[in-house]
Amino acid sequence: MLKLAVCVSGGGTNLQAIIDAINNGTITNAKISVVISNNKDVYALERAKNHGIEGICISPKDYESRAEFNKAFLDKLDFYEVDLVVLAGFLVVIPEEMIAKYRNRIINIHPSLIPSFCGTGYYGLKVHEGVLSRGVKVTGATVHFVDEGTDTGPIIMQKAVEVKQGDTPKELQQRVMEEAEWIIMPKAIDLIANGKVSVEDGKVIIAE
Ligand code: GAR
Repeated sequence: MLKLAVCVSGGGTNLQAIIDAINNGTITNAKISVVISNNKDVYALERAKNHGIEGICISPKDYESRAEFNKAFLDKLDFYEVDLVVLAGFLVVIPEEMIAKYRNRIINIHPSLIPSFCGTGYYGLKVHEGVLSRGVKVTGATVHFVDEGTDTGPIIMQKAVEVKQGDTPKELQQRVMEEAEWIIMPKAIDLIANGKVSVEDGKVIIAE
């Protein structure tokens, strides 16, 4: 049974999609051991509580230095003996020592088709604003492993979503979540939990 830590910074709709997928059997062989937030007031922690899942807050603001925060964060993952770290709208930079220790065991959901509209500065609504201002007709979401770069790790799964004329950033964000994020994030976790995902030469191979 793969033990997950799901890291969140906001409303937690992706967390909810993972919880639902575990409950309805879309994800097998995995359970959420802990939900980690960098903000104690987020609704995502409420969602964890409502489902009897342990939720904790760990914020860089509560530590004197980034190094102390990084150590405390890593200690938490070790404490819960986490196999896979799932970044579901987590807006804190992942410490390098964590990336090294959890190589190909940290995944992130990004709300565009990487390598478009990703990297530093592209998060949340800003991604959809970028998409609309460039006028592309297709966007989507990407689940990828986390490496030392920003949104540069091996891509596990992507799904395209149509951009509609007259979309607002919020409308587009909602469509990308409904038609892509909430589908591919649970699918990727299920594939990993069932041993189907490997990384070769920086690229993901999915076993048939
Ligand atoms: C999601 O759209 C996710 O793709 C995005 O934050 C949102 C979190 O929503 N992540 C990023 O932009 C990461 N660069 P949620 O809290 O409702 O799951």
